[in-house]
Amino acid sequence: MTHAHIRIAPSILAADFTRLGEQIAECEAVGADWIHVDVMDGRFVPNITMGPLVVEAAHRATRLPLDVHLMIVEPDHLLDSFAQAGARRISVHWEACPNLDRTLRQIKALGCAAGVAINPHTPALMLSEILPLLDVVLVMTVNPGFGGQTFIEGTLAKIRQIRTMIGALPIDLEVDGGINVETAASVVEAGADVLVVGSALFSQHHSVAVGMERLKAAVANKKPV
Ligand code: DX5
Ligand code: ZN
Repeated sequence: MTHAHIRIAPSILAADFTRLGEQIAECEAVGADWIHVDVMDGRFVPNITMGPLVVEAAHRATRLPLDVHLMIVEPDHLLDSFAQAGARRISVHWEACPNLDRTLRQIKALGCAAGVAINPHTPALMLSEILPLLDVVLVMTVNPGFGGQTFIEGTLAKIRQIRTMIGALPIDLEVDGGINVETAASVVEAGADVLVVGSALFSQHHSVAVGMERLKAAVANKKPV
């Protein structure tokens, strides 16, 4: 498979929430492709972050697709709220969905692209039956729950394996956690074509524009192997 274009999805989890609209606008101005929204419930993961209210605010701040990553148990009853709030893409966790097929069909019925996220310990093969229903596979390259964690090298083999499983299917392969100028090239070489980036983009040390420029430079001319 060839990837015409590596897409960057800034994770607003690392943004300055006192000026969220501005930060989203900065991302859009410097060529971000999607805006990634990390929803955590304090149950599936130890942390609590944001819900449909923030998705709705983000929706008013940008025309970019909102890529909503639900790190929550029992997501089914909230899918409609997130779709109404402006989510264009919704990913649920494999580990949190006992009726995954139904959940994915529900996401699609709401008019959103449907994705499944898998934790670092979840084998790629768990996706084999569900793959034809997916628009995106979201491979967690850290344990979900917090921004700013260290990339888990062992996930590279799984990214490669999922790239092979995807074959010619029209499925995006998104990676999430610890993606920065050091790790971006290796995930792209392994087959990822959407990079979620939080702390490496929203930093005290440089602007979003500089962060984006460095990331794009890091993956320029990298091809999946
Ligand atoms: C982790 C979240 C990630 C996180 C990425 O649970 O799903 O999206 O915000 O942040 P960084 O890029 O800082 O690892
Ligand atoms: Zn995420």
